[in-house]
Amino acid sequence: MIVKHNIFKTDGRLFSKKDFGPDFKWGVSTAAFQTEGSPAAGGKGLSIWDNFSTKKGKIFKNQSAEVACDFYNRYEEDIDLLKSMNIPNFRFSLSWSRIIPTGSGSVNQKGLDFYNKIISKCLENGIEPWITLYHWDLPQALEDKGGWTNREILNWFGDYVKICAETFGDRVKNWIVLNEPMVFTGVGYFLGIHAPGRRRLKNFIPAMHHATLCQAEGGRILRKHVENANIGTTFSCSSIEPFRNSQKDRKAAIRVDALINRLFIEPALGMGYPLDELPFLKKLNKYYRPEDDELVKFDFDFIGIQNYTREIIKHSWLVPYLQAKNITATKRKVPVTTMKWEVYPEGIYKMLHKFGAYKNIKKLYVTENGAAFPDTYENGKVHDRERLDFLKEYLKQVLKAKNDGVNVQGYFVWSFTDNFEWAEGYYPRFGLVYIDYETQKRIIKSSGKWFQNFLSKSAIFS
Ligand code: NOJ
Repeated sequence: MIVKHNIFKTDGRLFSKKDFGPDFKWGVSTAAFQTEGSPAAGGKGLSIWDNFSTKKGKIFKNQSAEVACDFYNRYEEDIDLLKSMNIPNFRFSLSWSRIIPTGSGSVNQKGLDFYNKIISKCLENGIEPWITLYHWDLPQALEDKGGWTNREILNWFGDYVKICAETFGDRVKNWIVLNEPMVFTGVGYFLGIHAPGRRRLKNFIPAMHHATLCQAEGGRILRKHVENANIGTTFSCSSIEPFRNSQKDRKAAIRVDALINRLFIEPALGMGYPLDELPFLKKLNKYYRPEDDELVKFDFDFIGIQNYTREIIKHSWLVPYLQAKNITATKRKVPVTTMKWEVYPEGIYKMLHKFGAYKNIKKLYVTENGAAFPDTYENGKVHDRERLDFLKEYLKQVLKAKNDGVNVQGYFVWSFTDNFEWAEGYYPRFGLVYIDYETQKRIIKSSGKWFQNFLSKSAIFS
């Protein structure tokens, strides 16, 4: 079936779901803090995001995530909606502080029950659940003991992963250990823009190393406790290009690439940290133990890549440690999304090739891709032409990489519904489904209808 409003021509080639093969995993992604709301319900403890987001000046217009998408109370309706949209895979995260309110120690049965209900509802509807264990909402009680900067987190995280694996592992087979470690350590422990709002290298370096250790440790625990598990972890990644073709800008781009694309994956693959490109990592010596060479490694079944944009990099003496800065998309006058991120579909193609080229990666999934754009609401309908075009153009690039032989086996849209976009609050809308936050009414946007149709058996698109 060809749906008229969905047809548009670029290079004239038609494509359909079939081109990706019968086993390709199609899905949508969400995260607990961005959707659930109800921060104190059912015995939940506070997380660093509950704490941070209630401090003045941290979130756009001081908006609160106390209700968010009210997924805590509306998960049934939302999973029915997923089903009606033909979406076969649902990636969501667990809130650590719902399960273990103080981060370590006693387990909260009501928290486990909540996720058991979500899992059952998915399975009853033929939807495969994909669990992210950590999507940034560390229990505040652990942050009070140093959070990611404290090596004890290896034990705290290990216990939490074991409980989740033992409780849900009989029914959930797809597991993601960490979501974008570069972002939660970089933006949370170096820039201070995300929770817990800490700054400087002295916080970033230990947080980064302990996240690398937990990434592998989580994998080992899942392997031990979940039969036939499909275990992965996810990385934010962006195509990095020099502003000018000068040696200085090229070298600056190499440094930024090492920091934002290579830092967390290479130790897991047994390649160590990119120390040559990032000399400031020598500060790691203080936290690095001899056994860590082995402890940072894990043989993941898949790597999730999460791509949105690209960065253009220029040498700059003014920026400490990196001597590099990016030339913003706005300055470059290229098309941007609400986040002011450049729309650059070839970027996802380049990232799939880059990650696919590592020797020991078994398979890749795009575990997040999508865009925030202003939607137009008209007579009960929500139109989002720009998102629709964005998704098609990025998908074409995924297919191109796949046809080149890159082993990419899945694609998840960020996000299912509009949700709480961290420090940016609610104004960036990423959803395939619109949320009217006044009424909590859900409306499938034109992009959502397109995806729904794409996922039906025979739709063909150009
Ligand atoms: C990365 C994060 O995983 C997710 O939480 C965030 O909302 C999206 N990308 C968009 O910024």
